Amino acid sequence: MFPTHPVEAVTHPDPYPYYAALARGRPLYREPALGLWIACHPDAIRAVMGHPAARVRPPAAPVPPALCPGPAGTLFGRFVRMNDSVPHARLKGLLTDFIREQEPHPQTTAWPDTGALTADAIDRYLAAAPVHAQAAHLGLPPGVYADCAADIGAFLSGLPDVSAGPKTAAAHAAAERLQSRLESHLEAPQTSPALRRLRVAGMRADLAPALLAANLAGLLFQSCEAGAGLLGNALILAGRRGMRGAVSDGQADALVDDVLRKDPPVHNTRRFLAAGIEVCGQRIEAGQTVLLVLAAAAMIEPEAHWTFGALGHACPGAGPARRHAAAALAHLLRAGADAVSLAARFRYRPLPNARVPQFDFSKEPSQ
Ligand code: HEM
Repeated sequence: MFPTHPVEAVTHPDPYPYYAALARGRPLYREPALGLWIACHPDAIRAVMGHPAARVRPPAAPVPPALCPGPAGTLFGRFVRMNDSVPHARLKGLLTDFIREQEPHPQTTAWPDTGALTADAIDRYLAAAPVHAQAAHLGLPPGVYADCAADIGAFLSGLPDVSAGPKTAAAHAAAERLQSRLESHLEAPQTSPALRRLRVAGMRADLAPALLAANLAGLLFQSCEAGAGLLGNALILAGRRGMRGAVSDGQADALVDDVLRKDPPVHNTRRFLAAGIEVCGQRIEAGQTVLLVLAAAAMIEPEAHWTFGALGHACPGAGPARRHAAAALAHLLRAGADAVSLAARFRYRPLPNARVPQFDFSKEPSQ
């Protein structure tokens, strides 16, 4: 049975026939059940993304109100991902160059502990491994990878809170630690050549070190949830293909590439309209939100890597994301994870945009 709407599709067992039907039959429409406009065809998505009135954050809430005031709100507000126009343009080029210049294979990626390979340990590994890999790329010392992963986890957990509570307090504390850890790493005299170039380019562009450091934390943040989805969906694909035991690096690369095409980790993103716009013959008023269904666009353009977005806010981390997921998958399977059993029993985390499997849900009500 088809999902009832595109947000439900993210956690549906097989949403792809539905996405294909949407992209072909309903390129841009209003979904009353969600109170959102939905763009599904690549042309409609590009038209919205390319419009200057379509913003990555609601104009009245550039930072989630529950995070303000406080360190988590300050950190969030500094992320390139959460800004448009001038702040975005000044940072995006520098960060993209920096990501390209990073060593493709850092010497040490200390992977998170896989422990006894329980379902709970696998879930924790999926969330932590992408952050460990990105922390290694940033040149941080291996001793702080686990702290980075824990802090990103606490920061992420505070985001959906509508009213300030214990999770918000933990998010503030985590944000403060991330900001100061990345700031001292960026400023350290012995930091990597790529970071030194970033620092110099930042000075020339008149960008404060605090802003650059926040965006290094932003790279850890961006890696986490989507990276967990890519790694987890590749693990499931390995299991469905009956792959037992260790895999070669080539097999891990191929699994990750297949997942990016056939079962991608990010299914949609949003744009918030600061003014009314006309797209594909439809008028969408100011204040409306448009859900851009990337996974539907991929049904029409399967080789366009829609899961990494497009145009101005396209993901600059696609290269490292693929390499890190393949390396983390190979490590997990070498450590003895039983992909076949894992693929036989899991659900998806109830997230509105990312498809991230969860293997331990014994303590939670089923969906
Ligand atoms: C499987 C892994 C990943 C997926 C599927 C993914 C997907 C995306 C998507 C869809 C966007 C655009 C969102 C939008 O337009 O609303 C985005 C933005 C971004 N991603 Fe990724 N991402 C992944 C991993 C990474 C990694 C590893 C990094 C860091 C090296 C990274 C850094 C960023 C940054 C900085 C942005 C903001 C770009 C901007 O606003 O201009 N991502 N990502």
